[in-house]
Amino acid sequence: STSVGQVTASLQKLNLEVPPAVEGSYPDGNIVDLGRNYITKHLAELTGVDAKIVFPALEWSTTLDKGDLLVALPRLRLKGDLNALAEKIASDFPLGGYLSKVVPQGKFLQFWFDDQMLLSLVTKEILDKGAQYGSAPIGVGKKIIVEFSSPNIAKPFHAGHLRSTIIGGFLSNLYEKLGWDVVRLNYLGDWGKQFGVLAVGFAKYGSEEKLADDPIDHLFQVYVAINNDIKAEKEAGVAEADSIDEQARAFFKKLSDGDQDAYKLWAKFRDLSIERYIDTYARLNIKFDSYSGESQVPQELMEGATKTLREKGLITEDRGALLVDLAPFDKKLGKVLVQKTDGTSLYLTRDIGAATDRKAKYNFDKMIYVIASQQDLHVKQFFKILDLMGYEWANPKKEQLLHVNFGMVLGMSTRAGTVVFLNDILNTTKEKMLEIMKRNEDKYAQVEDAENVADLIGIAAVMIQDMSAKRVYNYEFSWDRMLSFEGDTGPYLQYAHSRLKSIERLAGIPEEEYLNAKMDLAVILGNEPKESDFPAEEYAKELEAYEYRKQKVSYLVKVLSQYPDSLRFASKNSEPSTVVTYLFKLAHQFSSTYKVLRVVGEEHDVMLARLTLFACVRQTLSNGLLLLGITPVDRM
Ligand code: ARG
Repeated sequence: STSVGQVTASLQKLNLEVPPAVEGSYPDGNIVDLGRNYITKHLAELTGVDAKIVFPALEWSTTLDKGDLLVALPRLRLKGDLNALAEKIASDFPLGGYLSKVVPQGKFLQFWFDDQMLLSLVTKEILDKGAQYGSAPIGVGKKIIVEFSSPNIAKPFHAGHLRSTIIGGFLSNLYEKLGWDVVRLNYLGDWGKQFGVLAVGFAKYGSEEKLADDPIDHLFQVYVAINNDIKAEKEAGVAEADSIDEQARAFFKKLSDGDQDAYKLWAKFRDLSIERYIDTYARLNIKFDSYSGESQVPQELMEGATKTLREKGLITEDRGALLVDLAPFDKKLGKVLVQKTDGTSLYLTRDIGAATDRKAKYNFDKMIYVIASQQDLHVKQFFKILDLMGYEWANPKKEQLLHVNFGMVLGMSTRAGTVVFLNDILNTTKEKMLEIMKRNEDKYAQVEDAENVADLIGIAAVMIQDMSAKRVYNYEFSWDRMLSFEGDTGPYLQYAHSRLKSIERLAGIPEEEYLNAKMDLAVILGNEPKESDFPAEEYAKELEAYEYRKQKVSYLVKVLSQYPDSLRFASKNSEPSTVVTYLFKLAHQFSSTYKVLRVVGEEHDVMLARLTLFACVRQTLSNGLLLLGITPVDRM
């Protein structure tokens, strides 16, 4: 069973029993799991149902006013009058300091955590763990490869690459927080006939200076120019033998055969582009462990793959080309080409070779491909082929290979149409943000390093827009919406963070002090109004205000406690939106609580306790933003 470690001491202090840890729970880092373990133990005792069945049956309530966890008794495979049973269990259930109430509702039971218990344990947990709050040692000892971004060097970086970068960056951070050994892999599109096209274009339009100065931009210019020529040739009906296309093919053939000059040019394009990518990725807090690419797939692995497929009787030949018919296994997968007539490799074959290469090199336990849904079929095909080749790790039942797909970005217009220059997007966002900030002159004057702050808010805007909805959906790129401070946007989250920072700044209490504050609900809320102290009418108002404050604080603490779970859920569905939605919930709850819970001007111990509560909110918000790849700003 899992050790309860640090939490045990806190439990003893609060006179709470230490429930046995159910397998798969992480009570030393997830207070909700601790509560689950407690409920599981007693529910198992009261019903005679095995803890292994009870634990996973405990579900989140949909809204905060329905308690913390609930269980549907039918899920416990119990029979008989379940409504009556729910009543009975609710009245017999020991609260044990963990719960404030257990409420029967038809065949359901609602469990409400005790506010004081949750406040004490959650704030302690956050202050102890700091930047590590939310992590859990779920993947310790396991290795995961996250392949993402993967732009094509001889073609433009497009919105699909932007999304892959953002989502993949997030998933890498997430798995790291969950204890996995993460390899961030960029699989560049750095091979294929398009390099021939680019080389021909470069001979015609290229400039060494421009290439050195801005390789991505220059290669794009060349790409556009030469593709125009190709189009013109087609319209003019130029003979195949004299065409750019033919020259490109010849160049790529030379490159494939190891020609030194061809190789040097190719390597220059690749190296200079990577250098530039590194800077851009750094702006998004992303650092790849390896810049691999289609060019790096060992020839013998691809040959080995066709050999294996042949041995398994899966290859059919058609005029010198090699095909695998996947239709017998899955109609939708059809027939795929694995080797062309001229013997050169294909995108698909390279993916097969690359996967086996990675297994040999890294011996991963899991590998994620973050690739647009336009390539769903391609991914299904090469996953299936790997499975047919007999690799255990490619067996879908093992769930070791995972395709994380995503929809398109619509209406993204830049100077080059649908082409996105990541740096351009980030620069434009930054400029627009700077303009918005300048509108508030007083505030603007107080921001040190406004350029940097504008950059960080702008990046948050782009990233939150991308990660707000489920990733399979397409979304409309909109400057106005994403840069707004109202609604669920990146700037809104940054604003919440900077407000939390300013609360701490304005209070002027040294951090050491509030980090040791006694977290007493009664202190945070202030005295409960006594009837004798007020005229009747005022008393009712005071009481109402008090109750409202109490509910706000209670909900805020509940939301704080849910952060570790949100990470775990996000790792199950590979959805950044799970974390983004959580952060909005936290920011909204903070904002409405802060309205009724002032800090400055209160007595010292009240101020201290409230400050500590908000420091916990800030820590959690900061952890979440960093996880998404966003650097939180302290002032804006
Ligand atoms: N470079 C490819 C493209 O831009 C994406 C590569 C995706 N990864 C893969 N293993 N196929 O379309």
